[in-house]
Amino acid sequence: MTSLLLTGIAELVTNDPTHDGTPLGLIGDAAVVVEGRQVKWVGQRLDAPEADASRDLGGRAVLPGFVDSHSHLVFAGDRADEFAARMAGESYAAGGIRTTVAATRAATDEQLSANVARLVAEMHRQGTTTVEIKSGYGLTVLDEARCLAVARQFTEETTFLGAHVVPPEYADDPAGYVELVTGPMLDAAAPHAGWIDAFCERGAFDADQARTILLAGARLGLQGRLHANQLGPGPGVQLACELGLTAVDHCTHLDEADVEALADAGTIATLLPGVEFSTRSPYPDARGLIDAGVTVALASDCNPGSCYTSSMPLCVALAVREMRMTPAEAVWSATSGGARALGREDVGVLAPGKRAHLTVLDAPSYLHLAYRPGVPLVAEVIA
Ligand code: NIG
Ligand code: FE
Repeated sequence: MTSLLLTGIAELVTNDPTHDGTPLGLIGDAAVVVEGRQVKWVGQRLDAPEADASRDLGGRAVLPGFVDSHSHLVFAGDRADEFAARMAGESYAAGGIRTTVAATRAATDEQLSANVARLVAEMHRQGTTTVEIKSGYGLTVLDEARCLAVARQFTEETTFLGAHVVPPEYADDPAGYVELVTGPMLDAAAPHAGWIDAFCERGAFDADQARTILLAGARLGLQGRLHANQLGPGPGVQLACELGLTAVDHCTHLDEADVEALADAGTIATLLPGVEFSTRSPYPDARGLIDAGVTVALASDCNPGSCYTSSMPLCVALAVREMRMTPAEAVWSATSGGARALGREDVGVLAPGKRAHLTVLDAPSYLHLAYRPGVPLVAEVIA
């Protein structure tokens, strides 16, 4: 196996605190040795070992590839008209999901796959090297299974979200739909999924339904995650903590007891600021969560309804500008935080033995991700 020495790294974000005593583990004038799929060595350029080949990155900043732990990429069509109506004063409602469900059911596997490929490529160009992808726009046994099979072509981190909304054909029988989700749909989905998720929100699924669904998934070896407290206060975050979930996502409407429960349970709060940006809603209180000792991850939630961005740099900039996270906190949450939210130890950190997923910025420091919003700063992705 040949090794490659990368130099000309003005600033390296390792997320290994042993380097500088901070969570980002910064190294100035750094070098990295990559061998095969793994990082072999990181440190100061002057201490770098020999390698088979070398490349000078020209004084750029390098960070671990973004880990986008929440996306809904398997869908057809878009909802630009719904977005325009929202910007003209309509409010966001979960019911819009049904529009995408109809389009997704009508699409072929090839069409769905081509759309995911396009979005994953878009993410990659913006520095994302690990992505979680959910189903949730099929909502029949067949459509959920094929959406997950499509997602699996692109990532190991696939999530069964049959409990996204109750589809129109079950409008009069939500209990029947929960039986379908926890029975035949789960059986068909499980071979293609590592996670199971539910939208625990008024207008979608209540806490008892969500608990039933996650516990059914657990019996087939699927790990739970939740969409919770997105559109209003509710029981979802408490349920996530009760079940000891790794992460709970959205966390926009929290009270003190929710924050305390997250801190006590060690459940990660995954914040999705692109949603608040795209729905013109108040942002979650990232500052309050971090100050209370909660671990925060950032993800895109890329989907055609509430947030059609694939850009983790945008999420970092929003987190800093709108949620009062420091640039260092936001970059950590978009890399190491995302990795933890997926229970992954091999990504989100640049250290010997970890995956060689490197995002190279056309900038001398990670600070530019927040300082220069909207600028295509990703020069290159090495993965
Ligand atoms: O995470 N909250 C539920 N699901 C998505 C939105 C899906 C849609 O509007 O199509 C979300 O925001
Ligand atoms: Fe989502």
